[in-house]
Amino acid sequence: MIEVTAARKEYGTLRVVDDVDLRLPIGGVTSIIGPNGAGKSTLVSLISRLTLLDAGTITVHGLDVSRAPSRELARRLSVLRQENHLTARLSVRDLVAFGRYPHSAGRLTVEDERHIAEALAYLDLTELGDRFLDELSGGQRQRAFVAMVLCQDTDYVLLDEPLNNLDLSHAVDMMRLLRRAADELGKAVVLVIHDINFASAYSDHIVAMKNGRVVLQGTPEEVIAPEPLRRVFDLDVQVHELDGRRIAVYYD
Ligand SMILES: Nc1ncnc2c1ncn2[C@@H]1O[C@H](COP(=O)(O)OP(=O)(O)OP(=O)(O)O)[C@@H](O)[C@H]1O
Ligand SMILES: [Mg+2]
Repeated sequence: MIEVTAARKEYGTLRVVDDVDLRLPIGGVTSIIGPNGAGKSTLVSLISRLTLLDAGTITVHGLDVSRAPSRELARRLSVLRQENHLTARLSVRDLVAFGRYPHSAGRLTVEDERHIAEALAYLDLTELGDRFLDELSGGQRQRAFVAMVLCQDTDYVLLDEPLNNLDLSHAVDMMRLLRRAADELGKAVVLVIHDINFASAYSDHIVAMKNGRVVLQGTPEEVIAPEPLRRVFDLDVQVHELDGRRIAVYYD
């Protein structure tokens, strides 16, 4: 369980995460949706301690993220940031191997190698393992970062816009992969996502943020509906049901 209690983050006079309370169960896929600037990335950064809280507490499986030793936190929770900049010239395989660092501290075991090979294969990167990151397309690089995160093999996986730069087919592959990580490996997958139809089709739980607050949450059935979506996005959205799934249509 991830427990966020009265979490607050301010930049100057702007409260970008405004006393957020949230409980995310272990297991399952949770999507965080909401407009640009809503505070989604900041919340993910607070949970993963990339950003420090101004007030409140966050625990991951009972571990207080403000106080936990880095290595312990890294064995429990992995995170994909929205933007990934690297100055070092790394190969895809080297990047993915970094995901094993909390386990191996630099000396890769046979098991580490197995995790690396699996992560490369899952993300369709086996052929590109020796390529440098600056020699990849945007979507290939995005997949390499996701492979690194999955390689960390944590119970909690946080991904900030994992579908960035992905073509439709790789986006579907990614959502299937995350669904499988939850269903077959029992991981708690939390992702920030703008495509509400992917969120609808692949999530157990959807959390909607706006102006630094969680404005609503629930099952896809509860959230992917015209009135809740109007509240979140100030937009008229039609919602249709197709094969038991909620599909939002938001064109004029
Ligand atoms: N380091 C920072 N300094 C000042 N303001 C910041 C900083 N980081 C974020 N903000 C502000 O905090 C608010 C929330 O930003 P955040 O990145 O969490 O939004 P988001 O919901 O992830 O948006 P997007 O969908 O565009 O990624 C925005 O108004 C942003 O300008
Ligand atoms: Mg963001």
